[in-house]
Amino acid sequence: QTPSRVLLRGRILDFKAEPQDDRDTDAFTYHEDGAILIKDGLIEAAGPYASVLSQAHDVPVIDHRPHLLMAGFVDTHIHFPQVQVIASWGAQLLDWLNTYTFPEETRFADPVHAAAMASGFYDLLIGHGTTSAVAFCSVHAASVDAFFTEAAQRNMRMIGGKVMMDRNAPDGLRDTPQSSYDDSKTLIDKWHGKGRAHYAITPRFAITSTPDQLDMAGALVAEHPDCYIQTHLSENADEIAFTAQLYPDAPDYLGVYEAHGLLTPRTLLGHSIHLTPREIDVLSDTGAKPVFCPTSNLFLGSGLFDDAGLRGRGICNAIATDVGAGTSYSMLQTLNEGYKVLQLQGQKLHPMRAFHWITRGNAVALGLEDRIGTLAPGTEADIVVLDARATPAAALRMARADTLSEELFVLQMLGDDRAVAEVYLAGQTAKNGSVAARALVG
Ligand code: GUN
Ligand code: ZN
Repeated sequence: QTPSRVLLRGRILDFKAEPQDDRDTDAFTYHEDGAILIKDGLIEAAGPYASVLSQAHDVPVIDHRPHLLMAGFVDTHIHFPQVQVIASWGAQLLDWLNTYTFPEETRFADPVHAAAMASGFYDLLIGHGTTSAVAFCSVHAASVDAFFTEAAQRNMRMIGGKVMMDRNAPDGLRDTPQSSYDDSKTLIDKWHGKGRAHYAITPRFAITSTPDQLDMAGALVAEHPDCYIQTHLSENADEIAFTAQLYPDAPDYLGVYEAHGLLTPRTLLGHSIHLTPREIDVLSDTGAKPVFCPTSNLFLGSGLFDDAGLRGRGICNAIATDVGAGTSYSMLQTLNEGYKVLQLQGQKLHPMRAFHWITRGNAVALGLEDRIGTLAPGTEADIVVLDARATPAAALRMARADTLSEELFVLQMLGDDRAVAEVYLAGQTAKNGSVAARALVG
């Protein structure tokens, strides 16, 4: 029997705005002895333990001390059909797609395979503390059904869609402009807004779509303005050159998407590394969101994302794993590599800004900050419980850590799924057994 209210005790960190560093105390709240009160899957209150307890008589208490509780992590770009592509050797983007990725994605035509992979995919997300994600499925409708069916079973707020791709891909992995429109439309009707699901209209990238297909994607966007849009932009030099060849009339790569009505504040553009001044102007004008994928960009040798340059133009950057070109499901490891990518450019990533980025920051990029990414009352109780001493190396380092920022940086550099002690999805424990089994009536 699951109690309808439960109180989590521990150290709690919550963001109200983006801090630049730990002196930005208006942007975050931290309680050394804190609590989160959950009712029917939503956060009812968060604050000092004593004051939250006074509103919660006879509520079961789960004591997570000395661990750190915060909003669950949000991954804004990941490929569900690449769970068996991660860690494939030796290639840069286009060869990597042709050699490893496309053959693997053909297997997702089979609903039995797709369902089995979905089960593993969600176990991995949850194990690493990711409570919401934005995913590319394969070209097959069956992969989208598997993706959202499993998300519904686990009660996760997830965004995803069928990849649209009608050229430059092997047999078994191409649709047509019309079939991609029809299948996307059917999937939007079936899944968008159902429970915690959102649909993302998903033309894979300029190279794998004809202009006719991008027209169809643009029609879907116009007909479903509350859906997300996701694609890839300017990841790699060969990709950019091939795109210029395929779209000789476009002023640049982003101009292809612009001409087809695909750029809105709900558009997520994976990578966005090698941009021209005109493209940066268009990002700024349209509110489309670049997505920084550091482990992937280093793995494929794609290039260095200019976070400070884009932010300086008022552009809102998201951050993501991009598994299977990304090399970890962990948003902590993503921050680790992100820190290094910025270091190579003389830019800084303070741990306060880093942890804001993978929680509220990504939620803001998705326009979902009123539902996920914070511990504000009325938002959904997706919570991660972090143990900064989970490994010998981290424990030894933590013995010399005095501040919250140092602890966060240890998590950022040394943390992974082992640092994730527990995960709550809409108030239910998802990593280790059920709430009822762990709660003590206090
Ligand atoms: N560009 C088009 N498809 C993909 C993909 O699956 N992964 C990455 N990293 N880039 C892409
Ligand atoms: Zn991608």
